[in-house]
Amino acid sequence: MSASGNVPRPWWQDAVFYQVYVRSFADSDGDGLGDLPGITSRLPYLRSLGVDALWITPFYPSPQHDAGYDVSDYRDVDPRFGSLADADALLAKAHALGLKVVVDLVPNHTSSEHPWFQAALTADPGSRERARYLFRPGKGRGGAQPPNNWESVFGGPAWERVTDGSTGSGPGGEWYLHLFDTTQPDLDWRNPEVAAMFEDVLCFWLDRGADGFRVDVAHGLLKEKSLRDQRGLVPGRTDLPSDRAGASMVEVAELDQPMWDQPEVHDVYRAWHRVLASYDGDRMAVAEAWTQTPESMARYVRPDELHQAFNFAWLLAPWSASAFAGVIRDTLAAVELVGAVPTWVLSNHDVVRHPTRYGGGPVGLARARAATLVMLGLPGSAYVYQGEELGLEEVDVPPEFRQDPVYVRTGNVGRDGARVPIPWRGTRPPYGFSPAGTRTWLPMPDDWADRTVAAQRKDPGSTWSFYQQALRARRRFLDAGEDVELVGTRSTVLEVRRGRLTIVCNCGSRPVRLPPGEVVLSSGPLSGDLLPPDTSAWLV
Ligand code: GLC
Ligand code: MG
Repeated sequence: MSASGNVPRPWWQDAVFYQVYVRSFADSDGDGLGDLPGITSRLPYLRSLGVDALWITPFYPSPQHDAGYDVSDYRDVDPRFGSLADADALLAKAHALGLKVVVDLVPNHTSSEHPWFQAALTADPGSRERARYLFRPGKGRGGAQPPNNWESVFGGPAWERVTDGSTGSGPGGEWYLHLFDTTQPDLDWRNPEVAAMFEDVLCFWLDRGADGFRVDVAHGLLKEKSLRDQRGLVPGRTDLPSDRAGASMVEVAELDQPMWDQPEVHDVYRAWHRVLASYDGDRMAVAEAWTQTPESMARYVRPDELHQAFNFAWLLAPWSASAFAGVIRDTLAAVELVGAVPTWVLSNHDVVRHPTRYGGGPVGLARARAATLVMLGLPGSAYVYQGEELGLEEVDVPPEFRQDPVYVRTGNVGRDGARVPIPWRGTRPPYGFSPAGTRTWLPMPDDWADRTVAAQRKDPGSTWSFYQQALRARRRFLDAGEDVELVGTRSTVLEVRRGRLTIVCNCGSRPVRLPPGEVVLSSGPLSGDLLPPDTSAWLV
């Protein structure tokens, strides 16, 4: 989508977004949990790092059974995280610093404590209250079997049985669908009341100044109308690998998928597009859609739908030049079909941090920096997850502290290891995340003294300094265009040309000669005109 004439490109087309995981960014009030005033106090930090926008994970009232992705009121702030006045102050300060703010929208399900679900529980089958969710009678004698064979992404059956309002005592009534935790009942998006409620929620945050939305489980809102069985499902199989919740959504999607990516979901996004377009300032939305292919991802970013979708193929690719090349080629081809811009992401709060995925230790970190430099040189927009600028690795959170429902429901390690609070300064937990002496909601490692923001800012060779340099250098190449050429002569070396910029990444085990040109930046030390293994560089 190149801008024509003098029309400036919308800000989001080449923005670098920084994902703030609110519980773990900065705790202002000493309860061990990050909060909105904590974020506000650190906005100058994000400015100096050099990102353009923040995406803030859910901070709405919630019983916190899934770290806030279980919302009980979409139009307020959980007192643990602050108040609406704090949200307004955050938006005002961010805008004053030139930062955009994207908030998280969770439309697939509410919390079971949402007033709608509470009303549904005491209502009868066929009532207006039940019609906002997916209540169905069970199968078999007395309706004792779930309505279909679907499984929760978090493990176990996707249905829970309840008591029917006026008739019952004990759970002898209907069942409701929950593709995630039992405390996250799925809404029925075929009910116009649901759509109307969310349009109001969009306007509520747009009116307060939000620049956009990250749409949670964007591929899940509509289910195949019949709610038929999923074919090919192996009973008892847990689709959630121990380390990657997100990947499990992809694996499920590779099967028959009556619960994901239904054509009707796109009508929702066409309606939202009109709402966003009715506001000034290029408001936008980015889809979290775990779809099967780049082409199905691209359907979410057609010109009259959402503006971006996370490119999970990039995050799921192994450390391999040919895998990276394949994802770059397929992504660009897919978004070009619909005239959208690509996005790139390596980490978020649902997956193992990328230095750990790439092998951990010094090698994992070198690879992570190299992959980051490739990503930041590509056209489009990039998403950075808090802590990756510090080179943080996945933490092995002791079982007694784990909180992720994935762990609670399946016993798999879950996602807490990517969610540990950020170390800001000092030599001991909580490293300035909370006031000294506070017990943080997840324990912080004892050996993070050299990982803190304060320690790394002083060190020009640190991962923090590398991110700052890369983000700064990236601005010089925003005009390098959207045409990308993969120059593939060596199978273990990724070489990309984008206008005057050449990006090269050595995924092999031996040093290789750098392509001709002047080095702008590298992800690690170079040796003369050689690019060491696990290293990438930009050249002009
Ligand atoms: C999304 C979120 C994840 C959450 C799930 C259910 O995948 O990123 O953290 O558990 O949706 O809302
Ligand atoms: Mg706090």
